[in-house]
Amino acid sequence: MKTPLQISQFYVPAGFIDLGLGDPQFSLLPLELMRQAAEERFSQNDPEFLQYGAKQGDGTFRESLAKFLSCGYDFPTGPDSLFITSGASMGLHLICTLFTRPGDTIFVEEPTYFFALRIFADHDLHLVPISTDGNGLIIESLEEKLSGSRPKFLYLIPTFQNPTGHTLSLERRESLVSLSRQHDFLLVADEVYHFLSTSGQPPKPFASDTEDGNVISLGSFSKILAPGLRLGWIQANAEIINRFVNSGLLDSGGGMNPFTSAIVNRILETGGLEQNISKLTATYRQRIAVMDAALHQYLPGVEYTPPQGGYFFWVHLPDKIDATELQRRAETFKVGFRPGTLFSCQGGMQDYLRLSYVFYEPDELEQGVLRIKQSLEKELDR
Ligand SMILES: Cc1ncc(COP(=O)(O)O)c(C=O)c1O
Repeated sequence: MKTPLQISQFYVPAGFIDLGLGDPQFSLLPLELMRQAAEERFSQNDPEFLQYGAKQGDGTFRESLAKFLSCGYDFPTGPDSLFITSGASMGLHLICTLFTRPGDTIFVEEPTYFFALRIFADHDLHLVPISTDGNGLIIESLEEKLSGSRPKFLYLIPTFQNPTGHTLSLERRESLVSLSRQHDFLLVADEVYHFLSTSGQPPKPFASDTEDGNVISLGSFSKILAPGLRLGWIQANAEIINRFVNSGLLDSGGGMNPFTSAIVNRILETGGLEQNISKLTATYRQRIAVMDAALHQYLPGVEYTPPQGGYFFWVHLPDKIDATELQRRAETFKVGFRPGTLFSCQGGMQDYLRLSYVFYEPDELEQGVLRIKQSLEKELDR
């Protein structure tokens, strides 16, 4: 029989619980909200959103997005400071294209988002790791690396980091911005998890520091609405926005995703995005509690800090257990996770693993952690 061709990015065999998946559960994707917004937009009988789009992104949409961000970030954001992308990944790729050449040095957090490492590899960039702790990137580690080289940019995920779930403290944010000015390098802040806080407001985003030109902030609808939309934004000062707008890619293809922008615009206008975010954070808050309890019960020997938002638990295994080897064992127990070394640009983090709580129901999360305990016992028995 012919195997069906894949539609979504991942494939999970029946009965397998893959706690490595960083994708929202299908039932959390806003099908009804999208259907209504699309119907309303189509009924306007205006075909402009089917045309090549304005290079900076649909103006009406940028206006609505600016309103949402002004309210969500709690500082004024104007439509001129926004450039619409087809997601943060695409934004990052474009930044590499326009601001680096093969062989250039960039700094990244250790650990960092593994697919960002793939994008940097596509651009042949030389990566220098900067150490992190529970409060994010360590300033002294950055200062030490800055004494040896100047990066084209520093890529960081300041809030509810992927994979650690940690958030950079306000003091460190301020030190970073002043270091970027002093040493003249760009800060590329990937802020895709900023709105997914499950307890209070995170420190102000780097988006509030974009005016003087050393900071580029990346945002996305993937985590707050749906990844299949392929829609996001870059916030930066006018000079940087112009670099994007005047790129050959935009000359040829026009602005990113005018069709999707016009539909999502209806969701922004009706307050549907805020409602969706509230629903997601309420669900994730409950799942964090479930995973935390399961880890306490089944894996008392591991170390972690329960996240306050985002998607992930970052778990330190005892006795230098190698998470890649454990992963092989775990497969026989039908459970998956992401081994830490995937997130390291220098092959480190072997005794860490990343667990996600967004794809599964609470009982499956608990079952998944129990299976990891069983695989760990087997691994220790060897
Ligand atoms: C830190 C980070 N940046 C970017 C992305 C991808 O974002 P997008 O879907 O907007 O390309 C992810 C998704 O996992 C992520 O964790």
